Amino acid sequence: MACVVLVGAQWGDEGKGKVTDFLAGKAAVVVRFQGGNNAGHTVVVDGEEFKLHLLPSGILYPGKSCVIGNGVVIDPPVLMAELADLSTRLSVTGNLFISPRAHLIMPYHRLLDRLEEEMRAGKIGTTARGIGPAYTDKIRRTGIRVADLLDREEFAARLADILAEKNEILTRVYGAEPLDYNAVVEEYLAYGDFLRPYVADPGVLVTAALDRGQGVLFEGAQGTLLDIDHGTYPYVTSSSPTAAGACLGAGIGPTLIDRVIGVAKAYTTRVGGGPFPTELYDEMGEHLREVGHEFGTTTGRPRRCGWLDAVALRYAVRVNGLHSLAVVKLDVLTGIPKLRIGVAYRYRNEVLTGFPPSLKVLADCSVEYEEMPGWHEDITGVRTVAGLPANARRYLARLTELTGAPVSIVGVGSSREQTLVADPDLFS
Ligand code: IMP
Repeated sequence: MACVVLVGAQWGDEGKGKVTDFLAGKAAVVVRFQGGNNAGHTVVVDGEEFKLHLLPSGILYPGKSCVIGNGVVIDPPVLMAELADLSTRLSVTGNLFISPRAHLIMPYHRLLDRLEEEMRAGKIGTTARGIGPAYTDKIRRTGIRVADLLDREEFAARLADILAEKNEILTRVYGAEPLDYNAVVEEYLAYGDFLRPYVADPGVLVTAALDRGQGVLFEGAQGTLLDIDHGTYPYVTSSSPTAAGACLGAGIGPTLIDRVIGVAKAYTTRVGGGPFPTELYDEMGEHLREVGHEFGTTTGRPRRCGWLDAVALRYAVRVNGLHSLAVVKLDVLTGIPKLRIGVAYRYRNEVLTGFPPSLKVLADCSVEYEEMPGWHEDITGVRTVAGLPANARRYLARLTELTGAPVSIVGVGSSREQTLVADPDLFS
């Protein structure tokens, strides 16, 4: 396998963990390039379920190099807890490397995330993990990176400056308690000691692996429509989950990337606020949520569910330059007599050609649907695309016609074996 970027093509929670885990078997290096522990990847290995928030999914493979890139924001206690949990459940895991340029989530980020959300009129529905405030500080140049933490004096001095300002904001704007400088310094210096042995430059690791002819997999978190630039702003996350984010978030150039794959569910879900044109408010939405177990891995919130949205997917194909789609959870649609796919948006009397940038327009759009016959056969035991019922194959073929992207992978269940490869060249 060459250099592959895997991204979410919808609003996150597409089931990227499962596809990443499947492809990770062929790669020597797996890299996370954005987001933080707002993400939640569920991977089932030998019947055992693992929920990962910060660690790359490749960590479940013994000896695999797993990299947390500079584009990720790291909450050190979360990382430590995740590693500790894995070490009690697996005798050997992958080898972890952490970019010295990755930014840290600090205690005030977690506090401010919640306080800012409480004050907001239009709730974003953040995961309250401190992600937005940590990225805000990165862009304002008041962030603290792993490298800064490793230099004890530099860290203590930098934190003194930054915390003085944060405490002003916490107390004067929000009426909250200030944070104790000495306690934060002590706590974080201990995290620095923990992180130190893992620190390495991701760009160097990736290029060395590619030079040796080994495969590299970039694992996106969240999804295209949550991208800070290309998503349904402001109902987005604060990072770049689209394919270009892999270059920025790992320190490599775009010329190294051979293939970009977008993961989409066979229907659509979203958590948090913001417009969702194909959302279902009836029993069908409830049915998809129950059968698809659509409850957040990170927050446990019920996910909003709707029909497949080909307009949004077409947009994701363009924004990411997708070579193909991995369509997962196809089995959730089994038994639904008539399936619907959103094929166009209509705003007032106009049929829109693209995905509208205005949230007001998006919220007021009506969706034009195409109806397709479903299938009733149990597909969870099917192991080839050709073995799928004819109507399931027609559904996938129509999706390709509507989006312009071939389907390279199909998911029919949560385990590694329930992943069907439609593209014989996928691993070349
Ligand atoms: P934040 O990233 O926690 O600030 O949340 C911003 C928005 O992105 C909220 O609507 C969240 O529900 C959503 N979000 C963040 N991470 C994920 C994810 O991994 N899957 C799905 N939605 C997410």
